[in-house]
Amino acid sequence: MTSGEAETPGFREQMSKARQALSGHGPLVVLSGAGMSAESGVPTFRDAQTGLWERYDPTDLATPEAWRRDRDMVWAWYRWREHLISGARPNPGHLAVARAQDHRDVVVVTQNVDDLHERAGSTLVHHVHGSLFAHRCDTCGTPMDAGPPPPEPADSLTPPTCTRCDGRARPGVVWFGEMLPSAPWEAAVSAVSSAAAVLVVGTSGLVQPAASLPGVAADAGIPVVEVNPGASGLGREVSVHLRAPAGQVLPGLLAP
Ligand code: APR
Repeated sequence: MTSGEAETPGFREQMSKARQALSGHGPLVVLSGAGMSAESGVPTFRDAQTGLWERYDPTDLATPEAWRRDRDMVWAWYRWREHLISGARPNPGHLAVARAQDHRDVVVVTQNVDDLHERAGSTLVHHVHGSLFAHRCDTCGTPMDAGPPPPEPADSLTPPTCTRCDGRARPGVVWFGEMLPSAPWEAAVSAVSSAAAVLVVGTSGLVQPAASLPGVAADAGIPVVEVNPGASGLGREVSVHLRAPAGQVLPGLLAP
């Protein structure tokens, strides 16, 4: 959204409708995807990778097959992503979602594996695709802490050995083809089913089952507002689609 668009009567009307749809004092559920973190400088999943990783396709790296094929290369990629996230800062969109907690219950359900919602101050965040920083043993599942990531990118890094078996630390993220962690998923379904309103921010709506959550709300008659400058796989579920970047529109949209 450039300032010009914000001034058009059409956008102002859309914004007013969106604020109306999200009004009320019941719980607000925010469903966020990679676009939520785009203005923090974190590439969305389907952006071209930058620098060292531009020759890799993330959808090739985020798989159990890649881990079996070249564990140390995949571990190096995730450690570099940890380093990049640690250097990023929550953007005005994350901060607006956190501030909304001051005047209503807010539940964040995110597909993102970064910690920017938490660093912005959101206190109830369900990571349905896991977290970059939640390392665990790739064999027995014991939680592990691999410590801070190296400050330089590497083509290959050997993950630390588990303290309980001969397994190695792996990223605590959900890879393509893996089951979602049940606790965050069940909490997400429960939250959208009992929300007063749902705000979907920065997701292409292509990856199931996360992409089904807006439909769960819409089928229950709960208003759904989408914030995304581009098109997405969402359609009938959405009451109002604000074609604008999260960081530019959420502060005004969520202001009391
Ligand atoms: N504000 C809001 N939305 C934005 C912004 C922004 N500043 N910039 C980009 N977007 C939108 C894009 O238009 C796109 O629709 O964010 C969306 C990002 O889509 P994806 O890259 O597909 O990310 P996401 O939907 O989160 O992917 C879902 O798929 O790759 C797997 O597990 C991975 O969690 C990820 C899941």
